[in-house]
Amino acid sequence: MPVHVDLRDGVAVLTLDRPPVNSLDLTLRRDLRAALAMVMTNPAVQAVVLTGGTRHFSAGADIEEFASGVRGGATAVPTLPDVIIDLDQAAKPVVAAIAGTCLGGGLEVALGCHHRVVAPNASLGLPEVKLGILPGAGGTQRLPRAIGVNAALDMILSGTPVNAAKAAKLGLATLSTGDLIEDAVAVARQAARDGAKPRLSLQRAEMPADAGADWFQQRMNGLKRPLPAPLACIEAVRAAVELPFNQGLQKEFNLFRELVVTPESKALQYAFFAERRAARIDGLAADARPRAIERVAVIGAGTMGSGIATVAANAGLEVILLDRDEASVRKGLAGITKSYESAVAKGRMDEAERDRRLGRLHTATDLAACAAVDLVIEAAFEDMGVKQDIFRTLDKVCGPDTILASNTSTLDLDAIADITSRPENVVGLHFFSPAPVMRLLEVVRGAKTAPAVLATAMTLSRKLGKVGVVAGVCNGFIGNRMVEELLRQAYFLVDEGLLPWQVDGALERWGMAMGPFATMDLAGNDIGRAIRVGRAAAGDDRPYSTFPDKVCALGRFGQKTGKGYYQYDPATRARETDPEIDALAQAHAKEIGLPPRVIGDDEIVARCLLALANEGAALLGEGIAQRASDIDVVYLNGYGFPAHKGGPMYHADSLGLENVLRLMEGFLGGYQGQFWRPAPLLWEKASAGRRLTA
Ligand code: 3HC
Repeated sequence: MPVHVDLRDGVAVLTLDRPPVNSLDLTLRRDLRAALAMVMTNPAVQAVVLTGGTRHFSAGADIEEFASGVRGGATAVPTLPDVIIDLDQAAKPVVAAIAGTCLGGGLEVALGCHHRVVAPNASLGLPEVKLGILPGAGGTQRLPRAIGVNAALDMILSGTPVNAAKAAKLGLATLSTGDLIEDAVAVARQAARDGAKPRLSLQRAEMPADAGADWFQQRMNGLKRPLPAPLACIEAVRAAVELPFNQGLQKEFNLFRELVVTPESKALQYAFFAERRAARIDGLAADARPRAIERVAVIGAGTMGSGIATVAANAGLEVILLDRDEASVRKGLAGITKSYESAVAKGRMDEAERDRRLGRLHTATDLAACAAVDLVIEAAFEDMGVKQDIFRTLDKVCGPDTILASNTSTLDLDAIADITSRPENVVGLHFFSPAPVMRLLEVVRGAKTAPAVLATAMTLSRKLGKVGVVAGVCNGFIGNRMVEELLRQAYFLVDEGLLPWQVDGALERWGMAMGPFATMDLAGNDIGRAIRVGRAAAGDDRPYSTFPDKVCALGRFGQKTGKGYYQYDPATRARETDPEIDALAQAHAKEIGLPPRVIGDDEIVARCLLALANEGAALLGEGIAQRASDIDVVYLNGYGFPAHKGGPMYHADSLGLENVLRLMEGFLGGYQGQFWRPAPLLWEKASAGRRLTA
C-alpha cells in the first residue's frame, strides 16, 4: 500500500510510500483519500500527521500523467485538488511533517494541511512554471495566503525551492530541531487539545504594503519572456486576491488544464524526462560499478581548468590544481578565491563555507603530484602533441586504477588514450565554459573506455551537479560538431548579404539565448579559426565562408579583445553593432556577388536550426549519440536552446519530418545547397512517418 498508517497514542501518522519520489499519481491519491477517510472516522484518532519519509515528502503530481490517458490521467478522480480539499476540510487537525523535497503538488498537499513542520533538509517549492504549467492544486491560492502575495509570486515565477530555514522565515512552516515526526506529533496533539485547524482557504492574501493598482500588470511587464505559464501564474495569483477562495481555485484549475496541453508545456515535459533518460547508458553491463572518486587533479590552471577545479571543490572533492609554473597556478587559485569572495560579498556563501572549499584546493607544478589521485582531468592547451605528452607522463606516475580524463572539445580521444598503457581507463570529460555555471558535461566514451569508467564518469557528473550526456568519439563530439553546421549556415547568410546582427536578431527573437555571432564573440573567434584550420589540415575541404577569417584578420577575436562581430563596452560588456563590421560584411557579400534577395527571419531560423537537426540525425545514425533526446539535452544545457522548444531534434519533430525534408529540398537549390542532403536517418524516419525523438 502506498500510504502506511501508524497509530501513536491518539495521533495517526500517515506515511506516503510511493517510490522513487512519492509523485502523486492516481494510486497514491486514491490511497491517501481512503486513509484519510479511515482515520477521520476512527474515534481513537484525535489528530493526523502526514509525512513522506526522509528524502522525499513528495515531488508533486505525476508528470507522466499529464500525457492524456497515462495511468488514468491527472484529471482522473480523485484529482489532486479533491484530495487537498479533503485535507483542508478535515474534521481533525492535520500536520504535514516535511523532510527532503516537497515540490509542486507536494507543497500544495502540505499547504492543504493545517500546520507544517519541516526538517532541516527540507526543500519546498512550486517548480511548475519550469514545466510550462502553473501550480494547479491550490498552490496559487494558498501560498499567497500563507506568505503574502509578493513572496508567493517570487516562488511561483522562479520555480526555485526554498530551504527549511527560509521556509520558517517566510512563515510557511515551523522548523523542527529534533525528531521530525515526534515534533509533528507534538504539534498535532496540541492542535487537537486547542481545537486549532487553521485553514489557509479561509484567510486573506496580503498584498505588499506599497502595491499600486497596476501591481500585477507591472509583474507581467517585468517578465523576461511573456510565455503562457508565467502570465497565467500572475493571473491566478491575482484571482487569489480578487476572488473568493473557491472561485480562485476554479480559475487556477481551468488555467492549468489549458496550459498542460500547450506546445511550450509539452516541450518542457519532454525536456524533463529527456534529462533523466540521458543518465542511462545503453548496453552497459550490470556489473559496471562506478568507482569512488574523492581526490582529483586538474591539469591546466587557465579559465577552464580553474573552473573545473572550482566545480570539484564545490562538490566536496579534494583537488590538486596543476600547471607548469608557480605563477600560473597562483593566478588560477587567485581567480578561484576571488570568485568565492564575491559569492560571500553577495551573501550567497558564508565565510566558513568559503574556507572549507578553499581548504580542499591544493596546487602543484609537477605531474608527479597526480600519483595518489583517483581521477585526473586534463584541461591543457587544445593541441594533440601537448595532450599526448601529458598523458604519457600521467600513465607513468599515476596508480593503475587512476582514471585519466581529457577535457578536449574536438581532438580524437582515442589517439590520446592509445598513447597510454591503459586506454580502458581513459574517458573524455568535456566541460563547457564557464564550468561552474554551465550544466552540461559531455562524457566521451573512447573505443576502449571500460564500462566501469564510463559509469564512474556519469556518477561523477551528477555529484558535480552536471547533466552528463554520453557521446562517442568524433570531431566536436555532439555539441560542437552540430554547432559547426549552424555556424556554416550563419556565415553563408552573410555571404548572401545579411549582417551578423540580423542573423543573431532572428534567432534571438525565436528564443535562442544568444545568436551565433554573439556566441562566437564570447567563445573567441580565434578559437573558431583554430578549429577550422585543424579540420582543413585533417582533410575537411567542404566549403566554408571566408567572412570569419576576414574578421579574425582584423584582430577582432570577440569580447576578450573588446571587438568581434560587435563592439563591447569595456565597463559593462554590453554589445553594440559596429559600422566597421557592417561595412566589412557588405563588401564581403559584394565580392561573393550573389543577386540581392530578401531573406526573412523564417529562413534564417529554419536554415540554422535544421542544419543542427540534420547533423544531429547524422550523429545518431553513426551511433555517436545514444538517442535523439540526448542531443536535445546537450543543446538545452550547453548551447542556450530555449527549453520551451524542447531542443533541435524535438523542434524538427514538432515541424513534422516531412515538412523538414520539404524545407531542406528548397534550400538544396540555393546558395551552397550541397549541405542540405538529408542524413540517412532523417530520411528513413520521415519516410516511415516516425519521429526522431520517439
Ligand atoms: N512525476 C513523475 N516522475 C517523477 C517526478 C514527477 N513529479 N519527479 C521525479 N520523477 C521520476 C524521474 O523521472 C526519475 O525516474 P527514472 O528513475 O525512471 O528516470 C525518478 O523519479 C527519480 O528522479 P530524479 O532522477 O530526478 O531524482 P533526484 O533525486 O535527482 O531528484 C527531484 C528528485 C528533485 C524530486 C526531481 O526528480 C524533480 O525535480 N522532480 C520534479 C519536481 C516537479 O517538477 N514537481 C512538480 C510536478 S507538476 C505538479 O506538481 C502539478 C501540480 O501543481 C498539479
